[in-house]
Amino acid sequence: MRLREGNVVAMPTETVYGLAAKALDSKACARIFDAKERPLSDPLIIHLPDMQWLDRLAKPSALAGRLAKAFWPGPLTVVVERRECVPDLITAGQETVAIRMSAHPLFAEVLSILGEPVAAPSANRFGRISPTSAIHVVEELNGRIPLILDGGPCLHGIESTIVLITGEKLQILRHGPITREQLSQYAEIEEKESDILSPGRLKSHYAPQTPMEVHPTSTLKSWSQNKPKVGLLAWQNRLEGFQVVEILSASGDPVEAASRLYGAMRRLDSAGLDLLVAESPPLGGLGAAISDRLSKAAARRDPASSSETG
Ligand code: TXA
Ligand code: MG
Repeated sequence: MRLREGNVVAMPTETVYGLAAKALDSKACARIFDAKERPLSDPLIIHLPDMQWLDRLAKPSALAGRLAKAFWPGPLTVVVERRECVPDLITAGQETVAIRMSAHPLFAEVLSILGEPVAAPSANRFGRISPTSAIHVVEELNGRIPLILDGGPCLHGIESTIVLITGEKLQILRHGPITREQLSQYAEIEEKESDILSPGRLKSHYAPQTPMEVHPTSTLKSWSQNKPKVGLLAWQNRLEGFQVVEILSASGDPVEAASRLYGAMRRLDSAGLDLLVAESPPLGGLGAAISDRLSKAAARRDPASSSETG
């Protein structure tokens, strides 16, 4: 098995495709950074074969235990205090580690055969859109990795929700399929900005190559701009005046919209357009996660934003 030998393998999770390597093997993890051209300052998420591993990698946290019970296997990552056995390469030298357990049957099966955790970031090159199908992984990493397991398109299509746990409180570091509304049933959610290193929170991230802007529906309805080739990433309805239109969900279903988001961005990005405009999603629930991804994709060309596009 390639993973056992210390190699990297791209595999589907229920959120996006991941690039996995044995978590407790620093050399194997180094191959992830190499293939993705990811800076070593950007820590990795560890994926567990079973719940028991949580206690072996992290210091005890009652809240982490409750969240794991409620949402694992599933698209929630908890950031908790790490134990010594977790390699520094994974945590970027921090005292915390990000951990989740994937619900994808193929991913779960591989981990249960392997019998140990893997580190797995999204299987894209650094700063680019996360892959939601095996073909996207080929586009990103062809020639750089030995194996891609094809499990079809990903269910959620956006990355897991990440929460930082401190005692009995949590902070949402990255919005995702598990919503603030769901989390608030388990803990008090702190609003304050943490200074913890989580590059997923950089203003610019998940970026297409084509410049992108996000606008409310009202602006898009009366769209007029002299740029000739503009593509629209529409929420539910087709609007006039655009060269290419991608609709996220004809029924306005946020779950479907999230699952189609990155594929639609990729198609628009390869359509030879001068500008992509995205329609703002409705507020609340999954809308928060989608809105976050859109504004990060748009921030890429904003000179005021960070130059790093993680
Ligand atoms: O859905 C997902 O989470 C996917 C699938 C493959 O599991 N993975 C994923 O990994 O999105 P990645 O590496 O692309 O994004 C993980 C984010 C990064 O922004 C990283 O900085 C942050 O998690 N992170 C990792 N460890 C952390 C830590 N100890 N503290 C704070 N943030 C951390
Ligand atoms: Mg990523």
